Amino acid sequence: MDETLNLKSLNAYTKLIDGFNRRLNYLRISITDRCNLQCIYCASKDFAPYLPHKEILRYEEILRLVRIGVSLGISKVRITGGEPLIRKGVYGFLNELTKIKELSDVSLTTNGILLKDNIEKIKSAGIKRINISMDTLNRQKFKKITGHDLFHHVWEGIELAQKMDFNPIKLNAVALRGINDDELADIAGLSYSYPFHVRFIEYMPIGIPRLNISHNLLIPEIKKRLSASGKLIPVEKGINDGPAERYKFEGAKGEIGFISPLSHHFCNKCNRLRLTASGQLRPCLLSDYQEDFKGALRKGCLDNELCDIFLSAAFHKPLEHNLVGNKPTMVSGRMSSIGG
Ligand code: 5AD
Repeated sequence: MDETLNLKSLNAYTKLIDGFNRRLNYLRISITDRCNLQCIYCASKDFAPYLPHKEILRYEEILRLVRIGVSLGISKVRITGGEPLIRKGVYGFLNELTKIKELSDVSLTTNGILLKDNIEKIKSAGIKRINISMDTLNRQKFKKITGHDLFHHVWEGIELAQKMDFNPIKLNAVALRGINDDELADIAGLSYSYPFHVRFIEYMPIGIPRLNISHNLLIPEIKKRLSASGKLIPVEKGINDGPAERYKFEGAKGEIGFISPLSHHFCNKCNRLRLTASGQLRPCLLSDYQEDFKGALRKGCLDNELCDIFLSAAFHKPLEHNLVGNKPTMVSGRMSSIGG
């Protein structure tokens, strides 16, 4: 089948615009639900076993979907997981992905464990910016949160990434009351000495969390606590920015970002679709609605049928999530499979 021909036959004006006039141009792809850490805020593999290999989309299937997505207006892709760097063949895949010239932005989210030993490969695959999970600066606590005594390993990877000129390097800290809330100022303080974008993310109960947090640590409280460390000066948003509210401490090299899916959800500006490791297309992280790409792909369907699946997911994108409010919904998928 000639895919190029098929894609060209598409109406050039067909784009992913949802029922609320949001233009969906950002696809987040979980390439594996497996992980080499077991973070307490993520569902444990003991509760939900990993998917068998044949249930995971193959790289060529993902690339085909991305090319079709691009023809419908996708211009940004993030590769995530699970831990994307543990999947065999990932560097070759990233290389293929970054060759798609219509993609203006291809980024990677990693837990950093494999960064130190693979940074050159990531760079030469054409990745320019990475997000790294870093919820604590304390070695013992890192072990408590992730199940592994590998803080220094990750930190070396982060420093190496900086030397290799990845830009920006975003450090994701999930805010966990009673676990890392005594370190907010230290984590934020990294932005004084490094050009990192430190981002605090409100914890979202997804899947079967092992964490039982009685009341969430929300961004307004974090901001208030950080104001003791210095004046937070707002940074103007760029057109390609995600949901983070951006700030800078006076004189700091880096930035602080706040991501508040609960206290101040940003659904009205959401431009995302998510391709899960098992080949489902989800229009909202926090809703179980999904479209089955894998079934369609493996039945041998044509490109225009895959386009229809993209368009149907866009059509079904909810106006907003329902994690808070009177009757909050539970999201049953696993974060690692859906893609954080
Ligand atoms: N709530 C909020 N953020 C989460 N992440 C993973 N699980 C959760 C959760 N339950 C974030 C981590 C990781 C990114 C991919 O998603 O910070 O870096």
